[in-house]
Amino acid sequence: MTSTMVKPIVDAEYAKEIEKARRDLRALISNRNCAPLMLRLAWHDAGTYDAKTRTGGPNGSIRNKHELNHNANKGLEKAVEFCEEVKVKHPKVSYADLYQLAGVVAVEVTGGPTIEFIPGRKDSLESPPEGHLPDAKQGASHLRDIFYRMGLSDKDIVALSGGHTLGKAHKDRSNFEGQWTRDPLKFDNSYFVELLKEESQDLLKLPTDKALVEDPRFRKYVELYAKDEDAFFVDYASSHKKLSELGFNVK
Ligand code: HEM
Repeated sequence: MTSTMVKPIVDAEYAKEIEKARRDLRALISNRNCAPLMLRLAWHDAGTYDAKTRTGGPNGSIRNKHELNHNANKGLEKAVEFCEEVKVKHPKVSYADLYQLAGVVAVEVTGGPTIEFIPGRKDSLESPPEGHLPDAKQGASHLRDIFYRMGLSDKDIVALSGGHTLGKAHKDRSNFEGQWTRDPLKFDNSYFVELLKEESQDLLKLPTDKALVEDPRFRKYVELYAKDEDAFFVDYASSHKKLSELGFNVK
């Protein structure tokens, strides 16, 4: 081991369980075509983080019934159930690690970038108050309020919004309907390409998606990612890793 490498914070046995859980998640996510839902689960567990109070974040608390019942989390009970199937096989793995691993695997199996995964998150049963996740009906300043609270940047906001390259909105969950891209099971830069096209009327654009092209400080990243998929993958992998490690003290 070189001196620049980060010392592992879990023991070898735990690390082995993580690799087994990763394989099980890979099979489960491919077989059930549930990558979008699993990515959304990881994001909604992590995205409650408050950097000031150091509360919320990727700590597995989304499994609590009352947090799962928050309006923003409609539909995610299925993802929690899927993860439970892996948890019973690898009970040592924390829920917090499992949900973040599911997010990383979801991006990987749909053709997205490899995201470095460091295990060792602790579970919490303390749920944040409702309202920590973004409201899709709002605009740029709301996005900044929410993501800056987590300690994330404008670049993180745009790169992470590229997660909408996967999946769709469901009327009964969010009151929105439709998909952002032509192939919602392929992780690529098409979210940004479509966002810049005015004529893609049959595809979904949430008010918060539109804010990314309307705000000049966001738009420069949208333009970059639409023309350079490699740049998107590099930035996405880095922002996703940050999101997955909020409040988790690893350098
Ligand atoms: C779906 C809002 C950021 C990943 C959705 C839906 C809404 C939404 C309203 C539809 C839910 C449904 O009806 O099923 C937002 C807002 C964001 C945001 C306002 C603020 C920027 C993110 C981020 C990621 C992400 C950062 C991941 C990195 C997803 C995925 C789906 C989704 C994969 C599809 C889920 C499915 O197909 O079941 N989002 N989101 N979103 N979101 Fe976001």
